[in-house]
Amino acid sequence: MTRAGSLPLVERFGRLSAELTAAERENLKLLLSMAAGGLLVGHARHLSEDLRREALETAQRSLPKLHDGKRPAFTTGIVFRGRAPFFSDADIAAMDEESRANRYRAARFHDHYVSSGAPLAREMALSSDINDFLSDRVGPVLPTYKANYLYYDAPGLGIDPHVDKDEFALNVLTMLEHLPENRNSELILYPPDQEPVHVQLAHGETLVFFADSVTHQRTRTVAGESVRLVSFGYHPI
Ligand SMILES: [Fe+2]
Repeated sequence: MTRAGSLPLVERFGRLSAELTAAERENLKLLLSMAAGGLLVGHARHLSEDLRREALETAQRSLPKLHDGKRPAFTTGIVFRGRAPFFSDADIAAMDEESRANRYRAARFHDHYVSSGAPLAREMALSSDINDFLSDRVGPVLPTYKANYLYYDAPGLGIDPHVDKDEFALNVLTMLEHLPENRNSELILYPPDQEPVHVQLAHGETLVFFADSVTHQRTRTVAGESVRLVSFGYHPI
């Protein structure tokens, strides 16, 4: 396969997506996501490097195309990074407290722990301030009512390269705690045609990104390391 050959295939995935049901589109997204993730972690080494690079680029470039033109100006998939104006210090402190209090409820999901639907987080996810902020940047969105506390607080926790389910199409991800100062685990985004983007969020810092379109991972924690995040899902309409 040549570089020139992959571009029509990317466009064809986009056109195919328009004909699919939502369930079929999720299925195709999963296949492309698993292909990108597998290639990023070094699978298919029996194939030539050119072919693997071409297949990875095809999967990475096709993922944003599955969304019916609703991923405008897609480059890195990052919409915003910084101290978000829609969270006050008190909001961050309250979510931090609720996250700690809900740790015992968290269920293991692959290689990290998730606590869903805590009352304060759910209420925050419906904030009109967040909605307005997102709508100004990416057009109208709807909250998916999904609000998760995430915990990577034992050695070896993380998540391999993947894209998120539809419920977290647009993911508002905020760091509540990452200890100790000397960090090992990091979030890495793999946008098409670019170097990986390494993200170490500070306490209270937010990343808004198209998690259903850009492949991303959290690298593994080491002994003594603990990461707590809160994640809200939104959907462009
Ligand atoms: Fe994710």
